[in-house]
Amino acid sequence: MLVVHTIAALRAALPVPGTCAFVPTMGNLHDGHLALVGQAAVHGLPVVVSIFVNRLQFAPHEDFDRYPRTLERDCELLRPAGCNIVFAPDEHELYPEPQTFQVHPDPALADILEGHFRPGFFTGVSTVVMKLFNAAQPRIALFGKKDYQQLMVIRRMTQQFALPIVIEAAETSRAEDGLALSSRNGYLSAAERAKATELAQALRTLAERFGDGVSPLEVLEAQAIAALTAQGWQPDYLTVRRQGDLSAPIDDDERGGAWVALGAARLGATRLIDNLEFRV
Ligand code: PAF
Repeated sequence: MLVVHTIAALRAALPVPGTCAFVPTMGNLHDGHLALVGQAAVHGLPVVVSIFVNRLQFAPHEDFDRYPRTLERDCELLRPAGCNIVFAPDEHELYPEPQTFQVHPDPALADILEGHFRPGFFTGVSTVVMKLFNAAQPRIALFGKKDYQQLMVIRRMTQQFALPIVIEAAETSRAEDGLALSSRNGYLSAAERAKATELAQALRTLAERFGDGVSPLEVLEAQAIAALTAQGWQPDYLTVRRQGDLSAPIDDDERGGAWVALGAARLGATRLIDNLEFRV
């Protein structure tokens, strides 16, 4: 496994564009990332994993400074997982000057849900992913469904800019008790970790009640938020959206179709997100 730190070295290792499968990450890898790498390896192309904590997608009050940087351990995990090249640029390599050209995704998709509570987040994500795509020039790029809205934004960006890249989704990896794997789970205390599955449970209940078709969505959302708050969480949102474009249901009588329940909530100092795809 090759570890490179510059775009030039990455391009030298992959001289023909469109010949790798790419997994972008911010490092501090867990089994969910390794599952993405395993899925990437199935394509029989060299697998490139990028590790870069992207300042552009963190608000000033967020955890950019304390986000764990664990390159050596990450490389140890990636080697047996089927990764061929690790691209680990430093900030100066990726942003040698202030990144004044940025990708601003469609506000209808990017200013709702996560984007509402984390303004600018998807501009930061889209900008770095565009730059990483240009560095790696992959044929396939893999993104986890755990960051569902991110997957939708990247899909739309790839489509609108006619990038010659297939975006492949990977199912969310979960711990045995159902908690979605996330680098931020490491911030949870033991007591918080024991409660952390309550977010996924709240989404399951919301999806079931939505499917019953009895109450308007706003009522179900308010009930879900109240229930999670009573369990000691500070929810940002719990809602149901259409799969694909994340549009809200317009007519509450029209519940047939493919939906996703999405939620974000803080447990102590840690903000967790999760989602659940379902059909009615
Ligand atoms: O999902 C992530 O880890 C990040 O948002 C990504 C896609 C690597 C961009 O920094």
